[in-house]
Amino acid sequence: MGFDLSGKRVAVLGTGKIGSILLKALLEKGQLTPQSTFATVQHEERARALTEKLGIPVGTDNLAAVPDADIILVCVKPQVVQEVIEQIRPNISKKQLIISVAASVHTSQIERALASEIAVVRAMPNTPCALGCGMTAVCKGKFADTAHVAAACALFDVVGKTVVVDEKHMDAVTGLSASGPAFIYIILESLAEAGVKVGLPRDIATLLAAQTTLGAATVVLETGDHPALLKDAVTTPAGCTIDGIMELEEGKLRVTLIKAVVKAAQRAKELANG
Ligand SMILES: NC(=O)c1ccc[n+]([C@@H]2O[C@H](COP(=O)([O-])OP(=O)(O)OC[C@H]3O[C@@H](n4cnc5c(N)ncnc54)[C@H](OP(=O)(O)O)[C@@H]3O)[C@@H](O)[C@H]2O)c1
Repeated sequence: MGFDLSGKRVAVLGTGKIGSILLKALLEKGQLTPQSTFATVQHEERARALTEKLGIPVGTDNLAAVPDADIILVCVKPQVVQEVIEQIRPNISKKQLIISVAASVHTSQIERALASEIAVVRAMPNTPCALGCGMTAVCKGKFADTAHVAAACALFDVVGKTVVVDEKHMDAVTGLSASGPAFIYIILESLAEAGVKVGLPRDIATLLAAQTTLGAATVVLETGDHPALLKDAVTTPAGCTIDGIMELEEGKLRVTLIKAVVKAAQRAKELANG
């Protein structure tokens, strides 16, 4: 998006699953350098292990991690965000940008906890960011401007695709693209099992299922065609695909997936409260 991140110093607070994925990917892609990056976790022994693994300083003191950072990436659990923001508040200035990836926690909650006009951006990435094929949605808080959004997009563009949304859509995004990889893995695992059931060796069945999923997704992304049209192109009259589709409809796959995303999005609304 044309925003230059080079030379920017980043502090990652909460280097668990998603924090590590983002940090590792951004370091590997050269978007961050070990000299310009600092991270924190809760436990000392994990800090030591991560320092060794990532080759960057990792500590447990959030307040000490932030004074020199241009961007502070908050990757703790939703229930811990308030506590962490209150810890760092004395060392935060208006020159800094806070990006929170916590589900459920609104930018206004973070702004209130900061008690001054600090730029806050909320981002919702997903685990495929690990391999540069993630999906991240970004929205801005009251005191963030387009340059702050561009900085957040530049950061997440490095690990996949990025989209800017209104904050009212963030719980929906959480239910669809942040939880989504788990849903897709279940579908993939089931297709691979199906391959085994019809006689394929498991490794070949898994390859066929994964590459087919990737191929179908790539066609949707690259053509922009409606998935229903693409499905019709596979479905020969009186062929075998329509028999499979009838089973999917009878098994209510479509409505089950819709309900899964609805439930995950509803849960995303509640997370910050425990
Ligand atoms: N996982 C995903 O796919 C995903 C996707 C998008 C957004 N998110 C959001 O990302 C956040 C983290 O999720 P996660 O799955 O990565 O959780 P996680 O693996 O449990 O990581 C949480 C991390 O926070 C650290 N931590 C806890 N209290 C802390 C404190 N006071 N100061 C500094 N660090 C602290 C933990 O330290 P220790 O390692 O020492 O315990 C751990 O490293 C959540 O808000 C979630 O909504 C997750």
